[in-house]
Amino acid sequence: MAKAKSIFFCKECGFESSKWLGQCPGCKEWNVFVEEPVHRKSVTGTFLRSMKVEPSKLSEVETSDQARTLIGIGEFDRVLGGGIVNGSLVLVGGDPGIGKSTLLLQMCKELVEQMKTVLYISGEESLRQIKMRAERLGSFKEELLLLSETNLDLVEQSIRSVNPQVVVIDSIQTMFKEDVGSAPGSVGQVRETTNTLMGIAKGLGISVFIVGHVTKEGMVAGPRVLEHMVDTVLYFEGDGNASYRVLRAVKNRFGSTNEIGVFEMKDSGLKEVNNPSEYMLDGMPEDEAGSVVTCTIEGTRPIMVEAQALVCQTNFNLPRRTAVGTDFNRVNLLMAVIEKRLGMRMMDCDAYVNVAGGMRITEPALDLAIVAVILSSYRNRSLPEKMLVFGEVGLTGEVRSVNMADQRVAEAAKMGFTACILPKVNQKVISASHNIKLIGISNIKELLDYI
Ligand code: TYD
Ligand code: MG
Repeated sequence: MAKAKSIFFCKECGFESSKWLGQCPGCKEWNVFVEEPVHRKSVTGTFLRSMKVEPSKLSEVETSDQARTLIGIGEFDRVLGGGIVNGSLVLVGGDPGIGKSTLLLQMCKELVEQMKTVLYISGEESLRQIKMRAERLGSFKEELLLLSETNLDLVEQSIRSVNPQVVVIDSIQTMFKEDVGSAPGSVGQVRETTNTLMGIAKGLGISVFIVGHVTKEGMVAGPRVLEHMVDTVLYFEGDGNASYRVLRAVKNRFGSTNEIGVFEMKDSGLKEVNNPSEYMLDGMPEDEAGSVVTCTIEGTRPIMVEAQALVCQTNFNLPRRTAVGTDFNRVNLLMAVIEKRLGMRMMDCDAYVNVAGGMRITEPALDLAIVAVILSSYRNRSLPEKMLVFGEVGLTGEVRSVNMADQRVAEAAKMGFTACILPKVNQKVISASHNIKLIGISNIKELLDYI
């Protein structure tokens, strides 16, 4: 009798090995190998069967200019690079409970209204549960097709018989193929099921949306395994406490990455946030020390955010420092720069830095705002009203240029800001048409004049 074969997978990146390894050669992570039984059938069977074997001339290949479908949810369409590309495979990842099912059900709602055939397959919820959710989201057209199933072979049959334009699979971790021995959610299953779905998408020209849960622990298949295979990877993220959600493209074969869409979770589903700056600055204290507005770029979009700091005398030998919404090490570094270049004793100060609104910003343009906000809190003086600050800070205290300065200034002017402290190098290239006073500085020492 043939011995049942098994193989070892890296649960982070999907690296395969015939024996267990302590460290994965693929992603260099430790202790990530899991053993799974394999039944080597043709992995790419469906995919290949549905494709032509003769090569085509470049000129004969149809491009897909018109082969896009607009969803009608502006923020979602933008992140996809201008609507859904027909026949594409899209992964929507995110923590459980963030709103992935809600987002995709809302997408189905819009598509059905455009007379598209849409099939929503859930392996997590019963048809009743889906209907209850749909009722919260408003009135649906009756034509939306629902299926509650986890066996991918049956799902495939159903897709082939209905032949919809868009399919949603919620979620990939619940789907299984019988001929793969391992449990649903394991690396082997996730790879095989995604492969089958890829075959369906490319072979039949159906756009397939896959939901994938991402958790630090507990999820057997690392998100990386899927990321390599699909056309587009979107992450739906947000702070558990804040109601806003950001949809972010981290990989897109049909558009630019780093594009974001901003939503707000309401009682009746997700609402688009068309002016994120206004949303982020909502409820900001006026004329308070320790609060500074800056402008960050998310994808191609400028968004105004508030940075806050609380600097106070420490009661311990070692000062406490925390950073929420930005890089902790960067904050420490900037405090060291202040200490050395401005001669202020930061050594015996606790410092708490926070980017309000739940955004996470790591771009260097935030540096100057962090310096400003720390100084503001330290001296207990506020910046002039309606002033924003952005720029990168170097180790000698020099203020360096940042990208897309003009867009940042334009956004600030639009939001009614009247003054802007920015790198001197950037000041020269900013068009004079914005109704805003520009203050170019080349060293953080000059910042002290305004605080
Ligand atoms: P869900 O889409 O089920 O998350 P996921 O599929 O990513 O696991 O969203 C669940 C959360 O969203 C839940 O905590 C309730 C909340 N919610 C609302 O606040 N308003 C709504 O209209 C809906 C449908 C859900
Ligand atoms: Mg869900």
